[in-house]
Amino acid sequence: MINVEEIRRDFPMLSNTMQGKPLIYLDNAATTFKPKCVIDAVTSYYTTFNANCHRGDYDLSHDVDVAYEAVRGKVGKFINCLDKEVVFTSGASASLNIVANGVGQWLKQGDEILLNEAEHASNILPWFMVAQATGAIIKYIPLNKEGRLTVENLKNTITEKTKVVSLAHVTNVLAYTIDIKEICKVAHEYGALVVVDGAQSIAHMKVDVKDLDCDFYCFSAHKMLGPTGVGVLYGKYDLLEKMNPLMMGGGMNSRFYSCGSYSLHHAPSKFEAGTPNIEGVIGFGAAIDYLSKIGMENIHEYEHNLKQYAISKLKEIPNIVIYNETNESGVITFNNKNVFAQDLATHFNSYGIAVRAGQHCAKILMNFLGTVATVRASISFYNTKEEIDKFIEVCKKGDEYLDAFFKWS
Ligand code: ALA
Repeated sequence: MINVEEIRRDFPMLSNTMQGKPLIYLDNAATTFKPKCVIDAVTSYYTTFNANCHRGDYDLSHDVDVAYEAVRGKVGKFINCLDKEVVFTSGASASLNIVANGVGQWLKQGDEILLNEAEHASNILPWFMVAQATGAIIKYIPLNKEGRLTVENLKNTITEKTKVVSLAHVTNVLAYTIDIKEICKVAHEYGALVVVDGAQSIAHMKVDVKDLDCDFYCFSAHKMLGPTGVGVLYGKYDLLEKMNPLMMGGGMNSRFYSCGSYSLHHAPSKFEAGTPNIEGVIGFGAAIDYLSKIGMENIHEYEHNLKQYAISKLKEIPNIVIYNETNESGVITFNNKNVFAQDLATHFNSYGIAVRAGQHCAKILMNFLGTVATVRASISFYNTKEEIDKFIEVCKKGDEYLDAFFKWS
């Protein structure tokens, strides 16, 4: 059970104001607030054991190595994989680029990469680059009428030439949960690899990569209460071992010679060139502990119930168009028929409410939705029913805002 009042005391950001009003933060899909334990973990690194990792021969440096590697273990436990299958990156975008670069080197002209129109730029553009470099073909698995990706549609699109299927577990605009486990079964029958963008799922549901049987799973720490600039690339170990890194540098090689020959460390180290984001990884560990204590199932249930409550209220308001009424998450994507999405976001801002508006980096999806922009309110387990009531109240004022706009112009 979520005790939201108790939880809210852990998040210093929640006592802030915006536009002189109590801040209501409904942009959790963009980034989440951080509990005090995460902030304290970052600070403790700088105040008590600040040194580089994997490089020093003194106690302090050893302490950093132990703390940094302990977080790799926490991630492994959190998503159910081996520690050595966890690569620390700068975020989901970096993780997806590492996979596209690595897997892309195994592709040839005519091979197929399957995506869909609901994907974020980070899971489309790296594959465009691969296609340009190799002559591989990008194909889009059609979405159903609701905007969902179905296993049936994958079956109708996949062929013997398909080498990669790359999909979000939960998409960032419509936020439907995709049946990755079934997707993997189908894709693997064709010998295709499955890459999962988990940026929008990892903070909101239990993820077990072994049970899903995906080949790669990518996510960011900052969307799951952790610091910015840290992410994870999970990969099946044999694939990570075979794959070339995207970045070369210190800390990832065993030796190199003037003639140009070199050898690299084993995964995951070979993907972590340069000094990593140590403070971020340390803070990320605290975020995982915090989420685990609350329980991912509890989080998922709370957020979805709150979203359902919001939807039931939104549906009573004329002029509101909802695009994802039936999704399984805490994300509501909508428009007011009479107000441009970004104007509506500004209107919410004046009441202290933060939502995201625009194309949300999913530019192809806008054609599917038949609009140029949408408003997205994304709920976290620290949001309350009272905040949703306030949000609904402001939604009702949307038309007044339009009147005001006409009066000014
Ligand atoms: N990818 C993030 C979002 O959907 C930033 O808002």
